[in-house]
Formats: sequence, structure tokens, C-alpha cells
Amino acid sequence: MTEYRPLQQLPDPAGYKTGDVLVLVGELFGRGYANGLVDEAKRAGMTVIGTTVGRRGSDGTLRPLTAEELVEAETVLGGQIINIPLEAGFDMETVDGVPSIAEQLKKARPDDFATISFIEGSIEKACAAGSTRFRSRLAQLEAELLTRIPADANIHLAHSMAGGIPRARVFMPLLNRIFKGTGDKFLSSEIFWNSPLGQLCNTSFNEVTADTFRYLIEGTATLRARNTGAGSKVCYSAYGYHGTGVLINGHYSWQSYTPYVQGFAKMRLEDIASEAVAAGVHATVYNCPEIQTNSSALFLGVEISLYPLLHAIRREAGEQISAPLEARCQAMLNDGETIGSLLDRADHYLSSPILKQIVDFSTWPQHNSREQAELMLNSSAELMEKHRDQKQLVCAELSRIVFLATGRLMLHSSWNTVSPAIWLNHDIIGRLLADERGAGII
Ligand SMILES: NC(=O)c1ccc[n+]([C@@H]2O[C@H](COP(=O)([O-])OP(=O)(O)OC[C@H]3O[C@@H](n4cnc5c(N)ncnc54)[C@H](O)[C@@H]3O)[C@@H](O)[C@H]2O)c1
Repeated sequence: MTEYRPLQQLPDPAGYKTGDVLVLVGELFGRGYANGLVDEAKRAGMTVIGTTVGRRGSDGTLRPLTAEELVEAETVLGGQIINIPLEAGFDMETVDGVPSIAEQLKKARPDDFATISFIEGSIEKACAAGSTRFRSRLAQLEAELLTRIPADANIHLAHSMAGGIPRARVFMPLLNRIFKGTGDKFLSSEIFWNSPLGQLCNTSFNEVTADTFRYLIEGTATLRARNTGAGSKVCYSAYGYHGTGVLINGHYSWQSYTPYVQGFAKMRLEDIASEAVAAGVHATVYNCPEIQTNSSALFLGVEISLYPLLHAIRREAGEQISAPLEARCQAMLNDGETIGSLLDRADHYLSSPILKQIVDFSTWPQHNSREQAELMLNSSAELMEKHRDQKQLVCAELSRIVFLATGRLMLHSSWNTVSPAIWLNHDIIGRLLADERGAGII
């Protein structure tokens, strides 16, 4: 069990200089977390090298980006991308002529989720084939990095991969019921998780979200040995999630989104970092706050704990810094609504006795209950309704602040890491904004 260790002090500036390199392992999307790391690396004068997950052709084969896609992806990144498809997972793997998991699920019906079965041994074989493919691509990536990065450069290898929902139609209606369902539509995450489909997700999440970090650390051992041997620093970071400390009823308290079934894989990610640190590798999992990105869109209600960041910024950074942000957020609300009423509504949800009963660090991640799901989803909807335009949300503004702030905190703190798993809570983000090291984020 990982010890809860929030970052409490702003990190000293890292020793990165021009010519040092950030390697982003995972593709960059417009509003994704990794934008913060990329932005900070560029501010430090580092060279940014990106990667791609690749694309699936119409026949299902994994391929690199086309020339056009590559230009587009390099424009988003503002740097070069090594065009080797790094998709992880195994849903499309065909082994010894046995149909892939995605193929086996093609005719599956959501109502049968508890009784669906797979060809014996096929999940294990597909998983092994998927990890072999991923590792061989990583070997190609390492060979490329060895030629592109000089031995005297410090390197930060940033893992941003998470995912693994198998590509089969049967999942979306079920996941929508688990994450967004109320009344008759509600589905217990625990019942799903213990079903064959839930256990398939467990294996797949572990592979994509967690084990890719191990493969990355193992697969870049030559690069690491060469550069550390030359006196350079080689650090690894990964994005974790394990709840966040936010202001609830005037106190910073740990809380979590429920049901975060991906949390089992996120804890495995922490364990991988611990093992790496024990073996002398600089590896840190940064447990980051709930924000709105492409990947979190499924988890309706995850954004509620982001609203109190406004409180934390006011408390830690003061009126002068928080007032313009609050004014921008106020302008996004309907007439008659105020930031105060928005924050009160979020606080009402976060301090609810129903959540207190369920959410617990030592037994995290918790499964949903009908009562909890309804409370969360109704609160989320009420908070959304306070906005003038559903495309201009306070949480989008706050998400940008969080990914920029965490990027700065991660890049610098990983230079002298203190623990394999560190929580970046709302208080340290507020304190960064109060400091010259946070200048320009708001
Ligand atoms: N959004 C949040 O609230 C939140 C909170 C804490 C941590 N995180 C973590 O931050 C990281 C980045 O996520 P994000 O929310 O910015 O979303 P994102 O969608 O921008 O990033 C997800 C990343 O996962 C990669 N990915 C997805 N499926 C993959 C597969 N099969 N193989 C290889 N790579 C795959 C994508 O290429 C992308 O790099 C993730 O590890 C996520 O768990 C997110």
C-alpha cells in the first residue's frame, strides 16, 4: 500500500538546460495533461521528442502515422515525433489463428455481460502477444533515441499512457451505465468488475496504464546506462491518480472520484515506480487532480472536485492573483449565479455524509452505489446548468491551470525525487501560482 505523500514544498529548479531532452511516451492531445510538461520543458530550453500510438488501418493493422498525420501531430506537439506505433494492449491481437478478443466480442450483447466467455487461454495469449509487440516497438524507439540524444544530455522520459477499454461495442452501453447511469440505468461497478468482461478490463487496464511504464523503464536501460554513465541525469515520470486533497468545508481533505475502477491499475503503476526506485532508477508517479480531458470525459462528475481549486487559489495565492481568474469564471455563469453559489454547491456534494461513508484511502478505489451515483450525477448536472454556455466551462479554465501547474511541478521535482508516488494537491498548485515559478499560468 502506497503511503499518502503530498508534495508540500515547491521544488527547487531542476538542472535542465538547453539541449536536454523531454521524451513524451504517449500521444499529445490538445487539452491533455502532458501539455503542461511539454510547455515547461520548452521553457527550460529542452528539446521535446514525441511519440505516437499509431493508427489502425481499415483491416485492423497497426500502422505509423501518414505524412499528413505526422505533420498534424508535430504541430500539436511543437517538436519532432518518432513515428513508431506505440499502441499498448491486446484487444486486436490474433494468435495462432484464434480470433482476437475484439472479434470474439463482436456479437456480444450488453445484457449478457455476466455470462460472456472467451476461448480458453486466448486472453493470456493475446496479452503476451500485445506486450511482445509493444516491447519490440520500444526497442526500436530506444535505438532511435540513442542516435538522436547525445550522451551528455539529461533526459526526462514522461509516461502519459492510460486506457485499455477493449474495442468492442458491448462496452460503451455498460460503461455508460456504470459511470453515468441513474434509476433503472444504474449498474453496479462491483458486479461488472467481477464479471468476465470486468476482469478482461482489469487485465487490459493493467497492461496499458501500468505495465507500459515497466516496459519503458526496462526498454530504455541502454540509453539510461549510457547517459548516466556520462554523468547525465535520466528521470522517469508517470501520471497517476489516487484521489486528491482539495478544500472541503474550509479544510484540505483527501477525496476521490468513485467508481474509479482504473485505480487498480494506477496502484500497480505506483508499485512499478517503487520497484524501479529500489533498483536505483529515478522514477516517480505523480498523482494528479481530476481535470477534464479526452480521457476523463467518460467519468461524469469527476470534475466536481475541481471547482474548489478556486478556493485554494484564493487562499494560497491571494486576492490579487485569484480575482481576475474568478472574474473570468464569473463571466461564464448564468445571470443570477455567482462563484460563491457554485463553490457552495460543489462543497455541499464533497462534504456529503454519503461520500464520507464510501470514500476511504486505505481501501481505495471504491465501487459505486445507486445513492452515490445519483448524488454525484445530479450535483454535476446542477453545476453544469449554472453555466451560460456548455462549451465554456469553469472546469475547462481550471483544467488548463492544473495541467500547466502540474507540468512545472513534475519537471522540477522529478530532478530530486523524494518518493516513488507523490500527490499534487490543490494546495501546492495554489502555492505555485503565488510564486514567481508559477508566473504566467493564470
Ligand atoms: N484527466 C484526469 O482527471 C487525470 C487525473 C489524474 C491523472 N490522469 C492521467 O494523466 C495521463 C494523461 O491523461 P489525460 O487525462 O491527459 O488524457 P489524454 O487523453 O490526453 O491522454 C491519454 C494518453 O494515453 C494514451 N493512450 C490511450 N490508449 C492507449 C493505448 N492503448 N496504448 C498506448 N497509449 C494509449 C494516449 O495516447 C494519451 O497519450 C493518464 O495517465 C491519466 O490517467 C488524468
